[in-house]
Amino acid sequence: MCGIIGYTGEKTATPILINGLKSLEYRGYDSAGIALLENKKFSVIKSKGELKNLIKKTEKENSVSSVGIGHTRWATHGKPDETNAHPHTSSDEMFTVVHNGIIENASVIKKELEKKGFSFASETDTEVIPQLLSYHYDGNISSTMQKAFSSFDGSFAVAFLCRDFPDTIFAARRQSPLIIGRGENESVVASDTCALSENIQEFTCLEDDEFAIIEKGKIEIFSSGLKPINKKFRKIESVAEKHDKCGFEHFMLKEIFEQPEKIKNLLKGKIRNKKVFIDEIAELSLEIIKAEKIYIVGCGSAYHAALAGKFAIEELCGVPVEVDIASEFRYRNPPVKENTPVIVISQSGETADSVAALRLANSKGAFVIGIVNVPGSTIANESDYVIATKAGREVAVATTKGYITQVMALYLFALHIADIRKTIPDRAIEIYTEELCRIPDKISEILSDTSVVENLAEKYYNKNDIFFIGRNTDFAAASEASLKLKEISYINCSAFPAGELKHGTIALIDKGTPVVALCANERLFKKTLSNIEEVVSRGGEILCVTRKNKIISEKYLSIEIPNCSDLFVPILEIIPMQLFSYFIAKKKGCNIDMPKNLAKSVTVE
Ligand code: AGP
Ligand code: GLU
Repeated sequence: MCGIIGYTGEKTATPILINGLKSLEYRGYDSAGIALLENKKFSVIKSKGELKNLIKKTEKENSVSSVGIGHTRWATHGKPDETNAHPHTSSDEMFTVVHNGIIENASVIKKELEKKGFSFASETDTEVIPQLLSYHYDGNISSTMQKAFSSFDGSFAVAFLCRDFPDTIFAARRQSPLIIGRGENESVVASDTCALSENIQEFTCLEDDEFAIIEKGKIEIFSSGLKPINKKFRKIESVAEKHDKCGFEHFMLKEIFEQPEKIKNLLKGKIRNKKVFIDEIAELSLEIIKAEKIYIVGCGSAYHAALAGKFAIEELCGVPVEVDIASEFRYRNPPVKENTPVIVISQSGETADSVAALRLANSKGAFVIGIVNVPGSTIANESDYVIATKAGREVAVATTKGYITQVMALYLFALHIADIRKTIPDRAIEIYTEELCRIPDKISEILSDTSVVENLAEKYYNKNDIFFIGRNTDFAAASEASLKLKEISYINCSAFPAGELKHGTIALIDKGTPVVALCANERLFKKTLSNIEEVVSRGGEILCVTRKNKIISEKYLSIEIPNCSDLFVPILEIIPMQLFSYFIAKKKGCNIDMPKNLAKSVTVE
C-alpha cells in the first residue's frame, strides 16, 4: 500500500522525505514523488518505478526548502506512471496533494469541475482533491478543508501544501491511516511510525474525518465540524526497528528464521501453572466466554490463520467457529448477535476490509478481539480486546512470522477459553500447553537443514501450475502454502480440500502435474493417501509434507516435519512450505520482498 510522509522544521526537507519514503517501501508501490514549498512556489519531482529513480532526480534539484510532502503510490485509478504519480497539484498551483485511499465519487466531482473550467492532468481519482480545494479556497483554509473533504466519498489519508502557508502542512484522514509526530521545532506526518525520524519523540493518530494544521512548533487538530480537538500524544515505543537484513539475502528469509524467537516472544508471560492465561483477555466476561458462536475474520494469510485456529477453538472449546474473508463478511450482513466474540486478525492492523468488518461487528453489538502485530494501528485501537502477536516489524510483503504468530495466538486463545469453559480436562490443557511451548524448538529443527527443500526448488521453479491439497488442519496449511508460493513466484497455485479434488478439479490432473499433498494430520492420513493415489493414478507427481517416517512409497517425494498434535500441524507444515516458496522464487529471480502488484498493507477496498 502507498506511503505518505511530510516534514516541516528547520532542516532541509528532501533527505528527510526520502528517508521516510525508504522506510515505507515495504508497503509496496509503483511510483513515487515529493513536493517542496519555497518562496511561495512548489517544486514537484516525481518518478515511475523504484524510489532510486526519484532519488536520482532530487539529487539534481538540491533544494534547501524545509517543508515538503512525499508519497509512494500503489495505483488504484490510472496507470502506474510518472503523470499519475503523486503529488498532484491544482491548476492554479495553489495546492499540491498526496493521498492514500480511493475517492469513490471522483468521476462525478471531476465532471463538475471540468464544467467550471478546471483541466485535469492525470487519470487518478486523487487529482480532484487539490482541484476541489482550489475551487473552495477563499483564504480561510479550515473552511476550505471542511467543504472539500465533506464532499468526498471513500477513503483518504491526505497531506497537502498550500502556497499561502509557507511553513505548514495540512492533513485529513478517513479510514486510511495517518499519524502526526512532533519533535524539537519540527513536525512530521506519515502513514506509519516507522517513517518518523529519530528526532520525533511522540506521535498521535488522526481519527476519521479529523483535520490537522501542522507547523514546526505547533499542531492544531480539528473535528469535521472544525471544533479544536486536544489529542493525546504517545511516546514512540521504540526507535523504529532498523530495516536490516542482518546478513540474510532477503527480508523474507530473515523473517522465516526469526519465527522460533517470535513465537517464544508471544508465549512469554502467557503460561501459568502449566496452563495458558492471556492477560489481554482476562476481563472477557463469562457472557462472552459462554457465547454460542465465535466469528473469525481476516484477509489473505490472516484468513488462512483463521482457518487453522477454527479447528483448535472448536475442538478445545466446543463452540462453533464461523471463519470469513473480511471483504465478504462486511457486505453479507452477517447475523452477529449482541456480545458475540468476533476475532479480527490483521498483521498491519490497517487492512481496509478488516477495519470495515470490525466496525460492522461493533455496530451489531459484538465484542471484537483484535489479533494484531502493529500496536497503535486502527484495528488495535478499535478492538475491545487486543492480543498482540509481537512478531516485530515485518518488512517482506509475503507474511511469514506475522502469519505464524497469528496462528499461535489463536491456539493460545483456544486453550485460555477451554480452561474457563472447562470443556476439556485440566490434564489435557496442560499437555497441549506443554506442546505449544515446544513448537519454537520444532521450528528450529526444521530450519536447521533446508537442503531438502532447496533442492526441490530445482524441480519446481519452472512449473506453470501447482496444486496444494490437504484435509482439515492440513487444508488450512495448504491454503497458506499455496498463497505463499503464488505471491512471490507468480506460479499459478491453488489449494483444495483433498476430498474435494474428485469433484471437478481432478480433471486438470495430467501426466507430470505437480501436486503438493499436506498429510501430517495423523487421523486423516489414510484418507488423504487415497486422494494422493487418485492423483498418482492419473500421472500426477506428488510431493508430500508429512510426519517423520510416515511415507512408505518411492512413488512420492516427501518433506518430513517433527510430530505434533493434529490440531497444531499447520504451524509446523508451513515452515518447509515458506522455504519451498522462497527457494523457488529465488531460482526464478523474482523480487521476493516486494512482489509485483502487491502491498504489505491493503488500505483500499
Ligand atoms: C500475506 O502474505 C499477504 N501479503 C496478504 O494476504 C496479507 O496477509 C493480507 O493482505 C492481510 O494483511 P493484514 O494481516 O495486514 O491484514
Ligand atoms: N487512489 C489513488 C491513486 O490511484 C491513491 C492510491 C494509493 O493509495 O497509493 O493514485
